[in-house]
Amino acid sequence: MAEHENYTSYLAEEYVIQEEPFYLPVGDEIELFEVAYSQNLPVLLKGPTGTGKTRFVEYMSYRLGRPLTKIACHEDLTASDLVGRYLLEGDETRWVDGPLARAVKAGAICYLDEIVEARKDTTVLIHPLTDHRRILPIDKRGEVLEAHDGFQLVVSYNPGYQSALKDLKHSTRQRFMALELTHPPADLEARIVQHESGVSEEMSVALAKLGEKARNLKDHGLQEGVGTRLLIYAGKLIARGIAPRRACQVAVTWALTDDQQVQRSVDEVVNSIFE
Ligand SMILES: Nc1ncnc2c1ncn2[C@@H]1O[C@H](COP(=O)(O)OP(=O)(O)OP(=O)(O)O)[C@@H](O)[C@H]1O
Ligand SMILES: [Mg+2]
Repeated sequence: MAEHENYTSYLAEEYVIQEEPFYLPVGDEIELFEVAYSQNLPVLLKGPTGTGKTRFVEYMSYRLGRPLTKIACHEDLTASDLVGRYLLEGDETRWVDGPLARAVKAGAICYLDEIVEARKDTTVLIHPLTDHRRILPIDKRGEVLEAHDGFQLVVSYNPGYQSALKDLKHSTRQRFMALELTHPPADLEARIVQHESGVSEEMSVALAKLGEKARNLKDHGLQEGVGTRLLIYAGKLIARGIAPRRACQVAVTWALTDDQQVQRSVDEVVNSIFE
């Protein structure tokens, strides 16, 4: 197989968001992000799964009128994957920019999802982009890219998963301003669930209550509280005729954990809400 044929196409989506994404702010994150953006401060989004980190970046990219590049980090992601590489075409080689180089040139908002998963050489690569230099060195070409004014680096990080072995280095994390996205309060979460799933207001309130109560089970062996995403899944099933208890079982209880004892505790919460 040709080396990394079309590798950029699966590595990153890069697009201009045409329609306003639905985003309900939980605190002052919109205002803070706007100031961070205007001051060229890179942003670290912290928070558990399903709390709207990706949706927030999409919304901010729309609001600021900048294209968005999303890159999912993983341990095989190399510096060349991000920056670019020479591709062999017949007898000739052609340079192809990687998604980070394209974002730097286009002045995109570049979202590196799950940054802790990235290899050390990729985290080091972003350092010069985060300080006043705002540059991306392309060693293979002996070239240095200066970031377009609109360029903004955003990374995400879920503090719940990290072990001592796999944590963000301080030299990396202290280059970002950190915004923490938490589970929304029940009234906001109900509005989100209603909007995204199409359930009735009453049902969305019940699902938000389930979220709140199930999160209190965290000390009973649940590693991560239920995210808004799963409540939306349950809502989508219910809106299309699945009985609420069954919907919550498959979209919440079983999705959350394999531990039967914990499953029983979640089911009890479900049953107390959907009698
Ligand atoms: N504040 C919010 N406003 C609007 N929608 C939200 C909000 N929070 C969560 N959602 C909804 O929840 C879904 C999950 O959110 P999202 O994918 O942004 O989570 P995430 O924090 O990026 O999760 P992960 O860490 O797993 O990537 C979204 O598709 C959206 O429908
Ligand atoms: Mg996400």
